[in-house]
Amino acid sequence: MTTTQNESIPRIQAGKVHALTQLCREHYRLSIQVPNLREALPGQFVHLCAPTNDDSHYRIVDDQDDSHHQDWAMLCQTPMLRRAFSIAAIEKTSDGILVDVIFRVVGKATQWMASLSPDDPVSLLAPLGNSFPISSTRKKAWLIAGGVGLPPMLWLAQAMKQHEKQATLFYGAQSSQLLALDLDKGTPCSTDATQAVLASPSLAASDVPVVISTDDGSVGIHGHIGDAIEAHFASTAPDPDNLIMYTCGPERMMRFVADFCSERNIECYVCVERAMACGTGTCQSCVVAITDESDPQGWRYKLCCAEGPVFNAKTVVWDTAP
Ligand SMILES: Cc1cc2nc3c(=O)[nH]c(=O)nc-3n(C[C@H](O)[C@H](O)[C@H](O)COP(=O)(O)OP(=O)(O)OC[C@H]3O[C@@H](n4cnc5c(N)ncnc54)[C@H](O)[C@@H]3O)c2cc1C
Ligand code: FES
Repeated sequence: MTTTQNESIPRIQAGKVHALTQLCREHYRLSIQVPNLREALPGQFVHLCAPTNDDSHYRIVDDQDDSHHQDWAMLCQTPMLRRAFSIAAIEKTSDGILVDVIFRVVGKATQWMASLSPDDPVSLLAPLGNSFPISSTRKKAWLIAGGVGLPPMLWLAQAMKQHEKQATLFYGAQSSQLLALDLDKGTPCSTDATQAVLASPSLAASDVPVVISTDDGSVGIHGHIGDAIEAHFASTAPDPDNLIMYTCGPERMMRFVADFCSERNIECYVCVERAMACGTGTCQSCVVAITDESDPQGWRYKLCCAEGPVFNAKTVVWDTAP
């Protein structure tokens, strides 16, 4: 599952599309084949874009000059900056390494990604960022995903199995049409938050049951995933010293999970998203406020791309987040 720890492997890899699968109305799984990859762990991300052998269209364009309109069209079709995507899975094959990402179509880059075909070229800068710490003592792990925060949790679920942890996935989505998870038709997810069910074939392989909630009640529990977590915690009464939580998704949801854990003294890690231009700690565009006792104001900005995206939940200063 992890790849070779080798600094000599270039971080920019010329990849090609292995497969593109539509998972639901707006989510796709893109599997990219690269010749090689440095060691990567759950929580890390890739920065990807269309490769360009010809940079001649990256020049100042005079809007008044008709002859440049074709260049404008090209610029608008090809995303200029790389975009960040959490790694959802990594698999070694005889032809190289498959890196999977799951994305929701929200803008130009994701529209381009949804239009790709097998063998199309993709440039991958990877792996970037830090990873989820694995506890040596806590045996139970709750993985809490909201919306497009699901991908890193799928890879983490596999890692939990390898580390012999007892993991449960909590996944909240807007509706069944925006559910990026495969579900077993013969094993429906419960509408009772106290019941975690092996309802997803891909997670069943890692022995990870799921609790699903949807805002409109079209699948699983009707309501917010936070309500499901509270109900599941109340009914199963896990020992807080034996439990660790990991979360990724909308900031409001992660903040709820962080507060829930803080009130019960449960260790918790959040995977934070910021708009990222460079992805490598140069442009300073991706700051997150993190507590720092040595700083006079009690906190300082850290870079989400280079010092995150995973942070200990109790160190995140949510109110100052940009
Ligand atoms: C570390 C990291 C991991 C990520 N993992 C995933 C993933 O696994 N799957 C996935 O679908 N997306 C993920 N994202 C978000 C993804 O990178 C952005 O949504 C990206 O901008 C999409 O590019 P686009 O050109 O399609 O849309 P854009 O044109 O860039 O943006 C479209 C809309 O989304 C908003 N937007 C852009 N970036 C963000 C952001 N970071 N947070 C909130 N709103 C944003 C914009 O303001 C705009 O309204 C991740 C981001 C980070 C930083
Ligand atoms: S994206 Fe440039 S410093 Fe983080």
